[in-house]
Amino acid sequence: MREEAVSVNEVFERYDVGSEVFVRGWIHRIFKVGGKIFAWLRDSSGIVQVVFDKGVLNNVDWESIERLSRESSIGVKGVIREDPRAPGGREILASNVVIYGYAPPFPIRGGEDIEYLLDIRHLWLRSRQMTAILKIRHTILQALKEWLVRNGWWEVTPPILTGSAVEGGSTLFEVKYFDKPAYLSQSAQLYLEVLIYSLDKVWSLTPSFRAEKSRTRRHLSEYWHLEIEGAWYDMEDVMKVAEDMVSYAVRKTLEERRKELEFLGRDVKKLEPALQTPYPRITYDEAIEILRRKGFKIEWGEDYGADEEKALTEEFDRPFFVTHFPKKIKAFYMKEDPNRPEVVLGFDLLAPEGYGEIIGGSQREDSYEKLYNRIIQEGLNPKDYEWYLDLRRYGTVPHSGFGLGTERLTMWVAGLEHIRDAIPFPRWRGRIYP
Ligand code: 4AD
Ligand code: MG
Repeated sequence: MREEAVSVNEVFERYDVGSEVFVRGWIHRIFKVGGKIFAWLRDSSGIVQVVFDKGVLNNVDWESIERLSRESSIGVKGVIREDPRAPGGREILASNVVIYGYAPPFPIRGGEDIEYLLDIRHLWLRSRQMTAILKIRHTILQALKEWLVRNGWWEVTPPILTGSAVEGGSTLFEVKYFDKPAYLSQSAQLYLEVLIYSLDKVWSLTPSFRAEKSRTRRHLSEYWHLEIEGAWYDMEDVMKVAEDMVSYAVRKTLEERRKELEFLGRDVKKLEPALQTPYPRITYDEAIEILRRKGFKIEWGEDYGADEEKALTEEFDRPFFVTHFPKKIKAFYMKEDPNRPEVVLGFDLLAPEGYGEIIGGSQREDSYEKLYNRIIQEGLNPKDYEWYLDLRRYGTVPHSGFGLGTERLTMWVAGLEHIRDAIPFPRWRGRIYP
């Protein structure tokens, strides 16, 4: 039987009761009532009830229907009927059936713990929770890319195998590259900086790798990093890009993925303040003051971690920036503040509700001498950065950029407890399966 298939969603949205349709998918639930078998058929668009009635079936015997179980894959031709007891109020009365694959008892029945579900991630990804999250992630990525392209940013494709560190050696993954060591990219930033000299405004979406030693709710060893870099942009200019992009992504998600957000139990009201820009800005100095007032013992000059970030987010109902960090806690490429050489023109964007950093960025040091000295001070080898230094020798320009962790953004928008669910195949220390 070869038929033009329609999606489950179309059974509700496009066709009238009484139409004959052919739908395909997987059995989400199956049960017997009276002499009939009821199955909830799932495809990417939703769930529809199918009724198997011995007297109505044409091309298959009853026994092959009785052998169906959860996650069997089937195609069903039948007439759409109204049924108030069925999900969505409609069902399909099966007249013809194609059985693509039977399934042994499915290893997920509900109530399993997370470690177990990670071990069978390849099957757990069929769940309605994960499907909703993947769709939200899709919409966020689409919105970010759409914003960039519409606003004249060129997409570029930097490499993943690199010769040098961007974000410090402690989280660098070393790989054997023929007979020499190379590294998995932590950030495309340095390559993007090269490309602004021909394209002015560039962006890329790539995997970034961090050998994070500890396992936390918000760190992955491999994540999808959206980075932008703009010639002639100062820190304030690029912060404006950050807030415009984030608010656009939130708006699109609220418009297009409301059903999925609600399925996940996300309180969408809490996302609404993020539609308003500009986002609040505080300096690192002000952040330290707030933290001390809240009882944290922290000195000016110290870096802060997840607990401190969480405390800061309690002060805001929307994303907010922290700017002007002490030079010694930030990367070598950040531009020194001309008015205050002990701080850099760097910023983080923190998401509210305890989520914390989703973007890190800065204006870049554009003076050859200052950058060279920072490389030396940080104990890095200037030889490794010769090409990067060349950018300051041949026609240096003021420029700025940032990196956005797409799983961090998804995690906050979808209201997830853990970053692992913001990506289909999460990797962190000790886990690379599947
Ligand atoms: O703050 P980070 O380290 O900044 C950079 O890599 C810059 N070179 C980016 C740039 O300016 N082009 O990382 C940027 C963002 C963080 O704000 C966070 O959202 C995300 O990347 N991120 C991680 N996401 C998941 N797991 C990890 N281990 C992450 N480390 C950083
Ligand atoms: Mg950062």
